[in-house]
Amino acid sequence: MVNEELFKKIIAHSKEYGFVFPSSEIYDGLSAVYDYGQNGVELKNNIRKYWWEAMVKLNENIVGIDAAIFMHPTVWKASGHVGAFSDPLIDNKDSKKRYRADVLIEEHREKIQAKIDKEVDKAHKKFGDSFDKQQFTATNPRALEYQSKIDELSTRFVKALETGDLTEIKKIIEDNEIVCPVSGTRNWTDVRQFNLMFDTKLGSVSEDSNTIYLRPETAQGIFVNFLNVQKTGRMKIPFGIAQTGKAFRNEIVARQFIFRMREFEQMEMQFFVAPGDENEWYEKWREKRMKWHKTLGLGVEKYRWHNHEKLAHYAKAAADIEFEFPIGFKELEGIHSRTDFDLSQHQEFSGKKLQYFDPERNESYVPYVIETSVGLDRMFLSVLSSAYKEEVLAKEDGTSEIRVVLSIHPAIAPVKVAVLPLVKKDGLPEKAREIMNRLKIDFNCQYEEKDSIGKRYRRQDAIGTPFCVTVDHQSLEDNTVTLRYRDSMKQERVDVEKLDEIIDKLVNMKYLLRQLD
Ligand code: GAP
Repeated sequence: MVNEELFKKIIAHSKEYGFVFPSSEIYDGLSAVYDYGQNGVELKNNIRKYWWEAMVKLNENIVGIDAAIFMHPTVWKASGHVGAFSDPLIDNKDSKKRYRADVLIEEHREKIQAKIDKEVDKAHKKFGDSFDKQQFTATNPRALEYQSKIDELSTRFVKALETGDLTEIKKIIEDNEIVCPVSGTRNWTDVRQFNLMFDTKLGSVSEDSNTIYLRPETAQGIFVNFLNVQKTGRMKIPFGIAQTGKAFRNEIVARQFIFRMREFEQMEMQFFVAPGDENEWYEKWREKRMKWHKTLGLGVEKYRWHNHEKLAHYAKAAADIEFEFPIGFKELEGIHSRTDFDLSQHQEFSGKKLQYFDPERNESYVPYVIETSVGLDRMFLSVLSSAYKEEVLAKEDGTSEIRVVLSIHPAIAPVKVAVLPLVKKDGLPEKAREIMNRLKIDFNCQYEEKDSIGKRYRRQDAIGTPFCVTVDHQSLEDNTVTLRYRDSMKQERVDVEKLDEIIDKLVNMKYLLRQLD
């Protein structure tokens, strides 16, 4: 379900608490470009670490690389991005707003689906436990009518996408009376293809041959290094190469905070397999990736699969892991069976052999590839949007207050421990500093002495700090402190000597990783 209100709150909260800022904000920002603040960068680093360790540490046959953003321009001809990496765009002549034509159609289809869901809900309420959803959707005239509209639309849409028929895409928009969300009119331009790659010039001579691209995916850096890694790492198929890094796309629709950015970060892994083994590995990686997501505890019901109807130019099979963001179920990660397309293309365009000699099969071949590709910024948004909670707390005087808390998994929370002297005198700050100095070697800590303890707790809740350690006068006498837990707000008296062990049990990423193995 779309929750615009929650989405706005998350955007505002992200800015107020140093997670995400609009880029160059003092100049009114830059569309679809964002900066990560002091807490955002910690969260982002921790998510990246969770991914990296799950890939590279837990799998003996996966190694990492860090390829450059700039690549030889022929890479993008070979990969097909120069010719085919484009989106169909359409403008509304009245509002002057630009849209992705395929997204307009998909959203229209979702609206019809929502009508079916509404009918189902109504009937469910009416018939209670005896309700049979399957029978209802197969017999109810309204549901059948909506379903046939969806089927008709989908058939036309898939065919138009497959054949690249832009006139038909426009006709689908017209026939379905799709209006511009801003002007409400159907005054559309023709549909045109728009290449999403940013280009720039290398060196000082501005000739065509010097045009290079900002990479639109990190994957190609892995493909062109396939043989380097295989040979120097003496890798045996099946094996994988993992990489995290920036990617750039001149997105047409870029109005969804960090969900769709023009500069973003991907975490990609290419798994090289023998021809014929790709289907088995495709299934394995689908399963492994879903488990990785669900282990983070954002809610198993928040994920679903979406199998691609239209495959990218390189793919044999592809599916998205979708997450229920406040803007609805949207793509979080793609798992793609890329065949031998990329390596074969690079072999052809570079004139260099990109083959593997398989000692077991006693033959050389171009390996097939299974790719897992997840956006780090989308992961960040999925974590924030499921962690953001507003709790109503009853106060002693009979009134109530709202506590905003980010229930981020402790292993990826930006700050693990806040050390708080109860008052700024009587030697408490010194004792608190002593504890802080001890804990900061293992955990990202924050020291705070300003404002009442209640206010400081709220500030830590708002950035998702799992533990607060409060130092009071008793601490000076018996070396104990109050340990406060973020989610339950439970407080307990703990010996300073035991702090490391208690905190480590919750925040150490190894416990999360163990659940994956
Ligand atoms: N190498 C394959 C590839 O790039 P993709 O489905 O285009 O596949 C993979 O992108 C992932 O990258 C997506 O699932 C998404 O999480 C992320 N991503 C793609 N475009 C993005 C954008 N404009 N802003 C933020 N994340 C994006």
